[in-house]
Amino acid sequence: MHEFDVLIIGSGAAGLSLALRIDPRLKIAVLSKGSLDAGSTAWAQGGMSAVIDEEDSIDLHVADTIDAGAGLCDEEVVYHTASYGREMVSWLTDLGIQFTRETDSAGKSYLHLTREGGHTQRRIVHAADATGWAIQNELIRHASEQEHISIFEHHITVDLITTNKLVQNQTSESGNQCVGAYVLNTKKQHIDTFKAKYTVLATGGAGKVYLYTSNPDGASGDGIAMAWRAGCRIANMEFIQFHPTCLYHPDAKSYLITESIRGEGGKLLLPDGSEFMHEFDPRGVLAPRDIVARAIDHKMKKLGIDCVYIDISHKPKKFIERHFPNVYARCLKSGYDMTKEPVPVVPAAHYTCGGIMTDLHGRTDVKFLYAIGETSHTGLHGANRMASNSLLECLVFANLASIDINTRRLPETSNLDIPPWDESRVTEPDEEIVVAHNWDELRRFMWDYVGIVRTTKRLQRAKHRVDLLISEIDEYYSNFRVSSDLIELRNITLVAEIIIRSALSRKESRGLHYTLDYLYTDPQLEHIDTVLNLTTKHQKVKPVQKAS
Ligand code: FAD
Ligand code: SIN
Repeated sequence: MHEFDVLIIGSGAAGLSLALRIDPRLKIAVLSKGSLDAGSTAWAQGGMSAVIDEEDSIDLHVADTIDAGAGLCDEEVVYHTASYGREMVSWLTDLGIQFTRETDSAGKSYLHLTREGGHTQRRIVHAADATGWAIQNELIRHASEQEHISIFEHHITVDLITTNKLVQNQTSESGNQCVGAYVLNTKKQHIDTFKAKYTVLATGGAGKVYLYTSNPDGASGDGIAMAWRAGCRIANMEFIQFHPTCLYHPDAKSYLITESIRGEGGKLLLPDGSEFMHEFDPRGVLAPRDIVARAIDHKMKKLGIDCVYIDISHKPKKFIERHFPNVYARCLKSGYDMTKEPVPVVPAAHYTCGGIMTDLHGRTDVKFLYAIGETSHTGLHGANRMASNSLLECLVFANLASIDINTRRLPETSNLDIPPWDESRVTEPDEEIVVAHNWDELRRFMWDYVGIVRTTKRLQRAKHRVDLLISEIDEYYSNFRVSSDLIELRNITLVAEIIIRSALSRKESRGLHYTLDYLYTDPQLEHIDTVLNLTTKHQKVKPVQKAS
């Protein structure tokens, strides 16, 4: 049994920045199911949005975010988040992150700001095209130096421990509280108990639910699934963002080509070299992501083409090498010299806009359980996240949660008895192939039936298949010793089911949810989130007004 004041599950931008902000008198554990840098944070390219330029303002950042969010953003949350931008950039700079700078004609150095879809201003602070890598490394360096922070790599959380579960599904008098987690040490193949006064889910997104994704392998929605089982509300899971431009090449496992290439003048082209985005939106290639991804999907289906092309070869070679050194090198490896020619691209699943419902402090419905970063639903992104608002959200909500934790009275857990994980009735798995096969089946039908363009019939087909998978996996889970693959499969299948059910319940097209059966946006559904939890599990759910 490990005992900590704060258990942070996840070591990306959200988890580690929280760890660094918590009062050092508290004992903190940070868990990562792989190495510390294996989440999406290290892969972030474009940068982080922040109002820095004199021409820009918080109001403009708020207006752009709300416009991209297609009527579902929580305006208070957007305002709050946008107003922290400059402070977060300073915090990261103080940690040692070197954002890209330029020098003006008078020799004065200033932060280079790039642009991405939906932003009407230059507002993205970046470290060339590897912003996430720069942030992740500094966070790891600082966290590793702190004595009060214990780091556990290769520890995958199996499930949260709540007082409701401890007293066998009875609601305790003081409400359902989270008191820690059961965690599989994947090196030792042993399940440890982590007891904690506060538990924070910072587990990232769920892009792996789709066959083609820009996300790393661990993006299996574990936090969302665990929070669901603990009794939290999960909101807006129908809004899965597809990034318009991932490298199209048999050797590339969906490598992202950053949107800032379009921000710096890159064009999107059809195979005949013609531009097409202005047919869909006056903002062209810098329209919000839902619009660009859908336009590409439409052209690919209509013309029967495998991909479209991104082209920045009209810019000087030096400019491309300085601003996009990693994308340039990666494309070159696949045989495309972006300084000379267009590069083939396709959309792929990229970001989970919905997630665990939280308030402005990152608190969830379960006492002493927080959720921050991509796993959470704060209300910032609405029906479509604006580019580079995610890293900002991770840092802002880590800060807000830390303020809450630092000023709260520590809950009393000393008389709480937590039994160890019970493996007495399980045996070694007999058919690992079942797990691999189910992973593959799930990701394929999610891509085919729950993708960029949906229909009710396809969603129902997906629902039927996911229900079968869930019962098969539940049986497997009850009978066999757990492994990382099985834990992730169980979680991602549950997340898939929540996505499908959320999509079925939204009878309109809005932002990232586009269905041929309801082509129009229903004004009556503005500001109406899709909210599901355990008690709505088997019901047909109408979207309900989000609680404050
Ligand atoms: P992550 O960084 O994904 O970290 C998740 C952590 O949780 C990991 O440490 C993982 O090991 C751990 N974890 C998960 N499940 C478990 C479990 N069961 N037990 C223990 N540990 C667990 N956003 C921007 O704002 N700007 C960008 O330029 C940008 N570019 C992107 C480029 C790519 C290719 C991708 C994939 C995303 C990009 N995003 C960008 C999105 C952004 O990177 C992510 O939303 C953000 O980094 C998420 O951070 P996080 O801390 O919430 O989660
Ligand atoms: C990108 O660089 O295109 C990704 C930015 C983001 O997802 O916010």
